[in-house]
Amino acid sequence: MEKAKYIWMDGKLTPWDEAKVHILTHTLHYGNGVFEGTRAYQTEDGLAIFRLRDHTKRLLNSAKITMIKPPYTIEELENAQIELLKANDFKSNVYLRPLIYLGYGVMGLYHVNAPVQTSIAAWEWGSYLGDEGLEKGIRVKISSFTRNSVKSTMGKAKAVANYLNSQMAKFEAVECGYEEALMLDDEGFIAEGSGECFFIVRDGVLITPPNDTSLESITQDMVIKLAKDLDIEVKRERITRDEVFVCDEAFFTGTAAEVTPVREVDARIIGNGKRGAITKRLQEAYFDVVYGRNDRYKNLLTYI
Ligand SMILES: Cc1ncc(COP(=O)(O)O)c(C=O)c1O
Repeated sequence: MEKAKYIWMDGKLTPWDEAKVHILTHTLHYGNGVFEGTRAYQTEDGLAIFRLRDHTKRLLNSAKITMIKPPYTIEELENAQIELLKANDFKSNVYLRPLIYLGYGVMGLYHVNAPVQTSIAAWEWGSYLGDEGLEKGIRVKISSFTRNSVKSTMGKAKAVANYLNSQMAKFEAVECGYEEALMLDDEGFIAEGSGECFFIVRDGVLITPPNDTSLESITQDMVIKLAKDLDIEVKRERITRDEVFVCDEAFFTGTAAEVTPVREVDARIIGNGKRGAITKRLQEAYFDVVYGRNDRYKNLLTYI
C-alpha cells in the first residue's frame, strides 16, 4: 500500500505514521464499526470524488443500523474527505476509507458508552482485481461460505463485522487458485461477491439479484442506470448457480472492483471466456461517468 501524507483523525490531519489507536479500541475486540470505500478519479478537470454524497449517506445509515452515534454531520464528513484529498496532493486515482469506530475506554459487549471516533484514510490505489482482470476477466469460485443471513446480520450496513464472512470466502477462493469468491444466500441463490455485486447477461438481458443479501451497491445502481440509457433490458431477479454456468456474460461491480468481467466460474467457461460485448459497453460507460466524460452524470462528481 502506498503511504500518503495525512490521515484525518477526529478532525485533525495526522501524519500517516502517527495515525494510531489504543490496543483496547472497542471495535478491534467486538467488531462494531462502519466504513465506506469511495473512489476519486483524476479527471481532465482534476481529482474528483465519485458519488461522495451517496457514500457518506450510506456510512451514516450503517452507523444508524449498528447503533453508533456519529459525531459529525454529513456535510462535515464530506468536507473532511475533501480537505484530506487537498492536503495529500495525490497524483493518481485515490481510494478513500472513512471509518466510524468505537474507541478506547469501555470493555464488554454493551457498546453504547464507548467513545465514537472517526478516521478517514486515502491512498493511491489502482484496479482492485488487476488491470488484466478488467480487460480479460477473472476466474471465480462459488464459495463454501453462505453469505451472512438476514436472520443474523444486517447486510445493509457496511459494518466491520460483516467482513469476516467476506474475508473467509476470499481466502478460500484465492487458496483454491481463483481470484474472487461468489457467495450464495442461505437458500442457495446468488448473493454477491466478497466485496462486489454480481450481474449476468442472458440473451441480451442484464440480470442482477435484488439486494436481499447484498450491500446496496452504488456501482450496481450506476450500472443499472447506464444499461437503461443504452437501451439494455434490466431485470432484478434471483439467479441460481446453474444459470450462471450457462449465461453469456458475467461481471462484478463495486467501487473497488469497478466493472470487472468474469470469465470462468467453478471451471465453467462463461460465454467465450473473454470480456463480453455488453460488459465492455457498460464498463466503458462506467469509466466515462467516473472520469467526468458523461455530462448527464457530472453532478455525481465532487471536484477537489
Ligand atoms: C460486500 C459488498 N458488496 C458490494 C459492494 C459494492 O458496493 P459499492 O458499489 O457501493 O462499492 C461492496 C463494496 O463496497 C461490498 O463490500
